[in-house]
Amino acid sequence: MRFKLFDSQAKAKEILEHNQPRLVRAGDKEICLLRSGESLFAFQNACSHMGENLHTGKVNYLNEIVCPLHTYRFNIKTGEEAQQRCGALKTYPITASSEGIFVEC
Ligand code: FES
Repeated sequence: MRFKLFDSQAKAKEILEHNQPRLVRAGDKEICLLRSGESLFAFQNACSHMGENLHTGKVNYLNEIVCPLHTYRFNIKTGEEAQQRCGALKTYPITASSEGIFVEC
């Protein structure tokens, strides 16, 4: 399914601070949404290790989201954990059109 996040890229940039994760709900899914520079990323909010909320984590200098519970590190594009200590996060495509910015999940 496709869920509208923002009216425009400019609005996304205005609302989302650089590298500050945000929790969004799309249907029955909790998604961690992140703007890094001009790019938006979306992935499951529940850490694939033991389910901690990733939107309370930090983004490090390698553009990885660091889980606050056991500090596992996940690539924000691919969802892969840096040392393969657990499964990858499910990632969700972000699409843009004249109607707005959407997440596909
Ligand atoms: S719950 Fe996220 S690293 Fe353990």
